[in-house]
Amino acid sequence: MSSVASGSTERPCIGVFDSGFGGLTVLRALLQHLPGADYLYLGDTARLPYGSKSAETITRYTAAAIRTLTGHGAQLVVIACNTASALALPHLQANSIIPLVGVIQPGAQAAKLATKDTSQPILVLATEATVASHAYQQACAEHGLSTLEKACPLLVPLVEEGWTDHPVTRQVAEIYLNEAVATARPGAILLGCTHYPLLRPLLQRSAESLLGPIPVIDSAEATALHVQTMLPQAAHASPAQPALRFFATDSPQKFQRLGQRFLAHPIESVTLLDLDT
Ligand code: DGL
Repeated sequence: MSSVASGSTERPCIGVFDSGFGGLTVLRALLQHLPGADYLYLGDTARLPYGSKSAETITRYTAAAIRTLTGHGAQLVVIACNTASALALPHLQANSIIPLVGVIQPGAQAAKLATKDTSQPILVLATEATVASHAYQQACAEHGLSTLEKACPLLVPLVEEGWTDHPVTRQVAEIYLNEAVATARPGAILLGCTHYPLLRPLLQRSAESLLGPIPVIDSAEATALHVQTMLPQAAHASPAQPALRFFATDSPQKFQRLGQRFLAHPIESVTLLDLDT
């Protein structure tokens, strides 16, 4: 496996890739746990959603994004997109010249830590492509956990619309949750999509009214903690604030406007990129 030089006094540069804005929730966690790094974020907003695309297409798009981030100086790339982590990462990791980190393994690990009763399955909410890959099922099985996997394709567009606490979103979430728990009662809910942490309060309320108290986990923090073990020198804040650069493949203005909601931080400027060239 490729590794990042350790012991260096220079700030490492971490690339973060997502199909759109959602991965900014992962960047937020990285900034919190690795304030001593600089960051490049690339959102393939022109081609979102990835969640309904084939493994071949997702792998091709993800490979191009990693090349771009590496070309701009990233020494490690976090694939914040659950769909790309599930479908593309296993193919790309073997030939990568820099370390690539996905969100599936850290998410499964977080589920293990949050689950008291391992006889109950973990309910994984994710895109259609992630569910079809069964990547979370396999990763959870490695921790002795069973899963119920539920595709929730309507949630991404609802979050993109800003309807994170809207009656329609509540109704949609309740339908998905009811369908998901029809056959078994889960012990925890794992948010297996970049956009769902924005719905956490709504999902938590809906799940609790259906099932009673239940842990809701997302992989953002677990992923950041995993990256911290790879770059311990970046765990400590330094006098300089992290340098942040943002790239998007469609409207920089829209990225700036919506992205601030995901990042919970102002986004100064966004560079438009064409990943096809
Ligand atoms: N980033 C995707 C994920 O985490 C959600 C949005 C999309 O479908 O592209 O699976």
